[in-house]
Formats: sequence, structure tokens, C-alpha cells
Amino acid sequence: MNKIKIFKDMVIAETDPRLFSSFLEHLGRAIYDGIYEPLHENADQNGFRKDVIDLVKDLNIEYVRYPGGNFVSNYDWKDGIGENRPTRLELAWKSVETNEFGINEFMNWSKLTDTKAMAAINLGTGSIKDAAEMIEYLNHPGGTYWSDLRKEHGFEKPHDIKLWCLGNEMDGDWQVGQLSALEYGKKAREASKIMKLVDSSIETVVVGSSNTMQKTFPEWDRVVLEETYENVDYLAIHRYYWNEGVDQDFIVSHYDFNNFIQTMKSTINYVKAYKRSDKDIFISVDEWNIWYLNDVKLKDWEQAPKILEDNYSVLDALTFSGLIITLLNNADIVKIACLAQLVNVIAPIFTEKNGIAFKQTIYYPYYYFSKYGRGKVLNTYNQSNKIKTKYSDETNAIISSVVLNDKDINIFILNSDLKQSQTVLLDLSEVGDVEFIEQFILHDEDLAITNSVKKPDNVVPARKLELETVLEPGTFTLIRYKIKGE
Ligand code: AHR
Repeated sequence: MNKIKIFKDMVIAETDPRLFSSFLEHLGRAIYDGIYEPLHENADQNGFRKDVIDLVKDLNIEYVRYPGGNFVSNYDWKDGIGENRPTRLELAWKSVETNEFGINEFMNWSKLTDTKAMAAINLGTGSIKDAAEMIEYLNHPGGTYWSDLRKEHGFEKPHDIKLWCLGNEMDGDWQVGQLSALEYGKKAREASKIMKLVDSSIETVVVGSSNTMQKTFPEWDRVVLEETYENVDYLAIHRYYWNEGVDQDFIVSHYDFNNFIQTMKSTINYVKAYKRSDKDIFISVDEWNIWYLNDVKLKDWEQAPKILEDNYSVLDALTFSGLIITLLNNADIVKIACLAQLVNVIAPIFTEKNGIAFKQTIYYPYYYFSKYGRGKVLNTYNQSNKIKTKYSDETNAIISSVVLNDKDINIFILNSDLKQSQTVLLDLSEVGDVEFIEQFILHDEDLAITNSVKKPDNVVPARKLELETVLEPGTFTLIRYKIKGE
């Protein structure tokens, strides 16, 4: 028997609003022909697609990380401001960057989508001086060369970007300007110092391991943190999962994700103790998603090529739901998490050039996560039937996370058993008198089906007004209750 007993007064942590963030990179059709398509019939006077803005706004995203990703490691932010916008070779994805869209356009788009920017500096080919100048341009009120240039460009008020990534995946041999942990740690520390001298109100995120397969994991994180501990605020980790062929193993990818987060938490605690520090550092999972890494690139040096356009199935969305539950249950240490990415490139929103925009299967669990995952994550007692996976012969079939928001109790559950239905007993006796509100169910007997331009609503979760606790094989559900009379 599966049982989830909920304790209303035992709180793991309050979710940080920045847990519900995302990511847009100058990559493929994320920016060009994604959020920005001036000739589209739905484009506004800025060239932004209004249908995409509406879909983004519905996701209620807090921060959007920009402009990369791998792109940032050879990007000169000055190419994207003012009148003169040079066309450059873009080396991370071997495409052509026109620089028609830059940081000011991004800030305009952020306003329209009610999101805030999480900016990244170039620590591949860029210098700490470039980083300081960028902050001066964006955040300084005025009276200096760079801040007055911003005003000349039409932005009287500073953009006031508070959250900054110190480069991207600098442990990876695919990164332009890859560094060793020690080299990167020293460079990141000095970058963070100079940036905070320009604007002491900012927070910085230092690059941690790009994934758990890196040979340098988790030593990279220890060395980098030892160099930077007192000068930075968050450790960035990235993680993508894909189906290697065994569906039952893939759907429980959350096991690995949880281990990764826990290892990083231990590493942070180790360095804190080693440094005799009073300071706390938290985790920014600033890239996470399902990504098949099986791209066929047609040719080099195209502008806005159709790359990384994964079309997500129901199974992908179920696996994705397990990652969401894991992020919630680690809300004490994970304060920022960016779904990578947002539009077209491994994304919940897909656009057709000159055509429609539609929701991929993963859009729905993310929507519930962002709408109902805010509040206090509660401790629960979990009892689950076991299934056999590559992780363990005793893998839990049922995983869950429970969030208390004012008087609402939101229960996220994944039945990861792909062979059998599972009945879940919800024990709310410690919570008090409750009233069932609604339930959303994501399930399909065909795990492979997707949404598409031709069938944009092929997969849509069902809303139920009567509680269903028998969960079919491979089901994600959100069950909502209200606490009565408090
Ligand atoms: O999100 C796609 C790419 O994945 C990013 O550019 C990079 O940081 C990561 O490897």
C-alpha cells in the first residue's frame, strides 16, 4: 500500500519565487523566430510575438536567464547595443549572430512578460573589465560614460539587474575558453569582486559542475567554492536527462537528480566548515530539463537554425514531473531553478514561423509547478510500493511533494510504475478539516504521443472534480485541498 501522511507544521522550506525561472539563449530559434519575429501577424511594435508573450505570462515565470548558455562564452554584449550592430560568427553553435536583438531588447521583453533578468557575463573570451562595464551600463544611475550611453540609447532609468551568472559551464571541453577549476575559481572571484564594486546590491552565481558525468565532478565544485566562497552567493549546477532506451529507468531520473543536489549540498557544507565561514551559499539549478542531445545540424553558419527542437512526449512530461517534485523537496537548498529553455530550443513553448505557437507536453507540469508550488513545502511520511530500476531493485513507485499555500494544500504525485496502477492513501489527519478542490491528471496509454503544429492539443491534462487515488501506470497528478475554517 502507498501512503502519504502530511504534517502541516513540519516545513522543509518556503519555496523561493526564483525556483520558477527559465532561460533564453541566443541559440537556434529561441530568440529569432521564437520570441522575436517582426514579420509575424501577432508581432507588436517591438517585433515580439504577442501569442508567445501570453503563453510565457501564463507560466508566471520569475527570472529568465540570458543570453546564454554556451553562447555567452564568446559574446561581446557591446555588439548588441546602440545603432551599429555587427554580424558575427557565433562559435558555440556555429551559427550567424546578427545582433539585431541585444540586452535592451531583452529588457523590453522582460517588462512585457512580467519577468526579471538573470544576466550572464562572458568568462570565456571576456575580461572582468567587460563585466564591470556591462554592470555600469545596465545598473548605474548616470553621470559616467557607460551609464550615460544607456540613457542615449533611450533607457533613462537603470535596468537594475540583480542576479548575475559568472560565465557558463566553464568545466566543459565544449566551452569556448574552458578553464581548470583553480583558474576559473580565481577568475570568477575577481569578476564577482569588481561587479559588486560597481553595484553592491547584486548577487552572483558561480559555475559548478555541468553534469554528474564530468570527470571533474564533484572536485570542481570544491575547488571553485574554496576560491570564491566569501565572494559569491550561489553555486550553479546543470542537469539534463534523456531516455537511453529503458522507459522504466528514464521515468525515475529524479533519483539521479536528487543525488546530484544532495552531493552539491554536502560540498557546500564541507567548504563552509573548511573556511570557518558563517555565510550560507545556496544552489541555482540554472539549467534543467529533458534533452535528447540527438540533433542533426544541417550546415554551419546559418542564422537562427532549427536546432535542439525536441518534441516532448507524455513519457518526457512524466519524467519532467519527477524533476519538479525533486526541486520542491530540495527547496531548503535550491533557491533558483531555470527550466532550460523557454521557447523552441528544448522548450515548453513551440512556435511555427509565420504560424501558431503551441504548448508542448512539459508545459503543463511546469504550469502547475509554478502556479501551485509556491508556499511552504511540507514534510511527509511516505510509504511506497517498490519497482525495479537501474537505480535500485527497491525504487519507490510513488514520489510526492506537498506545498501549503495559505489554506491550500497542493499535492504533487508521480506514479512512476509503468506496469501497474498504484492506489495512494492520503492521510490528512494531521492537517485538520479539509475540503477537496480539484485534481489534474496527466496520463496517456500511449507514452510516445506529443503535441504538434497539426495537433496542438493532443495531450492536455484532465481536470477532475472527484478525487481519483488509483493512479494508472505512468501518471502525474496534482491534488488540491482547502483547509476548512481557519
Ligand atoms: O541549454 C542548452 C545548452 O546546454 C546551454 O547552452 C549550455 O549551457 C548547456 O550545455
